[in-house]
Amino acid sequence: MHDYTAETYGERIADIYDSWYAAYDERSIDALAELAQGGRVLELGIGTGRIALPLRSRGVTVQGVDASAAMVAKLRAKPGGAAIPVTLSSFDDFALDERFSLAFIAFNTFFALLTQAQQIRCMETVARHLAPGGRFVIEAFVPDLTRFVSGQTMRVIGVDTGEVRSDASLLDLAQQRVTSQHIVLTEGGVRLYPVTLRYAWPSELDLMARIAGLRLEHRWADWGQEAFGRESTKHVSVYQRALL
Ligand SMILES: C[S@@+](CC[C@H](N)C(=O)[O-])C[C@H]1O[C@@H](n2cnc3c(N)ncnc32)[C@H](O)[C@@H]1O
Repeated sequence: MHDYTAETYGERIADIYDSWYAAYDERSIDALAELAQGGRVLELGIGTGRIALPLRSRGVTVQGVDASAAMVAKLRAKPGGAAIPVTLSSFDDFALDERFSLAFIAFNTFFALLTQAQQIRCMETVARHLAPGGRFVIEAFVPDLTRFVSGQTMRVIGVDTGEVRSDASLLDLAQQRVTSQHIVLTEGGVRLYPVTLRYAWPSELDLMARIAGLRLEHRWADWGQEAFGRESTKHVSVYQRALL
């Protein structure tokens, strides 16, 4: 997808994002509120506020960065959404005056940065915005290449009387990249929702964090802080900036 940019995912999906992905894990709000320790919080890829809004309802001061004006417009239209400051920018390269006790990026969104250089730059940008001792939390899947046969996979996600939803994906092992289309077929036509990711194993994330001056403090299997292990399909990783 040569015309795929930082905005593409959000601009294409904004209208239906909340109907597909409204659910969130209440434990994510507990964990993030606790890690914030009463300080300011920054969400990278804040989107329509699925996590940021309930976090704000807990009394946490939260702001965001997102590349998609359409996603941010959906956030602003919700109760409390307009009160959350959002910077329209790619989250690998932004500059804010504030320093944060917690930054986080949920729902595999870190992988939206499509090169290792961009992912390292994101870690470095986040580290610059953390107060001493501040934390950066990444929620992401553990790559599972067994999903692919001959570098491709097609998956049916839902079948209804008037609709079929499926995913078509191509794997590029050299670039650690998965290029997908979420396809919605109805009698009225076809809608395509593109998404491209550069996946990374937890160990590569740890190295990138180290380059940026962040150290792994916790790795959980989920927001409930279950131990991460060989069967884990996702992780919640907490990195910390040094106190000095
Ligand atoms: C999967 S959604 C997650 C939204 C929200 N965090 C949530 O958990 O529901 C990913 C969000 O990241 C944004 N995004 C993707 N790539 C980005 C980039 N390079 N810079 C800034 N935002 C980006 C999209 O516009 C979208 O709002």
